Amino acid sequence: MAKKKKKKQSMAERADRHALYEESVQDSEFELDFVQDTFKDIRKRKPVTLREDFAGTARSACVWTKRSKNNQSWAVDFDEEVLEWGRKHNLKKLKPRQRERVEFIQADVRKAKTPLVDMVLAFNFSYWIMQERKDLLTYFRAVRRTLNDDGIMFLDAFGGSEAHTTQQEKHKLDGFTFIWDQNKYNALTQEMQCYIHFRFPDKSRLDKAFSYNWRLWGGHEIEDLLLQAGFSNVRFFVQKFDEKTEEALDEFEETREVIDHECWIAYIVAEK
Ligand SMILES: C[S@@+](CC[C@H](N)C(=O)[O-])C[C@H]1O[C@@H](n2cnc3c(N)ncnc32)[C@H](O)[C@@H]1O
Repeated sequence: MAKKKKKKQSMAERADRHALYEESVQDSEFELDFVQDTFKDIRKRKPVTLREDFAGTARSACVWTKRSKNNQSWAVDFDEEVLEWGRKHNLKKLKPRQRERVEFIQADVRKAKTPLVDMVLAFNFSYWIMQERKDLLTYFRAVRRTLNDDGIMFLDAFGGSEAHTTQQEKHKLDGFTFIWDQNKYNALTQEMQCYIHFRFPDKSRLDKAFSYNWRLWGGHEIEDLLLQAGFSNVRFFVQKFDEKTEEALDEFEETREVIDHECWIAYIVAEK
């Protein structure tokens, strides 16, 4: 009898969406350099403890413990599936002594119980899932309570005319294409539905690998809520562009003004 031929799996079927996500949008080393240097500039000491909110695979929390034997971190996410991926991949890569200094916590970021820390990070716009002022205020208050007296919260934000439209951005990476899809945009409420898709050279696709229903919060609104939550000072560090090529640079400068650009990205730094 002829042997049944096993159907070869497509690249999309073999792909790991969390690994692709990390490769596409995360640069923990760069982010940690930024938060560490900025904390040192403002507080004149080295930060030691860090809480990564909306941690997903907890990549930054894990990398933090590799940077110094004193560093400790907590990674908070309410999704057990993604935390488990982080344990299997990112935590496993650490040396036993580093591993002991990271704790994974499955909880809502508004309710998570963690010790007081120097820094709380909420990156990749994840806090935009909170679309009501009262929810975001509750979150900012909870973060403030979990910070040391000289603690600092770090967030990010984007904007510009392209943020207020439906559009797709494609980036060809090593072995796959990453697609950022601003699929729906409500110009009245600034609610947006975004997806991440992945495409592969064998034409297979991983559509809607990640889905985000966000409110496009403005810089001033976020600052108002942080101050209302009790933070004493809020700073903006905006990504610089090459004036000739208009290419985004790996440099962020403190400013309170962004020219009417198609797209801007900024870190928001809130001091307790
Ligand atoms: C875009 S991912 C962020 C991953 C990674 N930290 C990064 O910077 O790219 C958003 C994560 O937030 C988590 N999340 C959303 N709302 C949350 C909440 N209220 N409390 C805890 N985690 C939440 C989701 O489970 C998801 O893993």
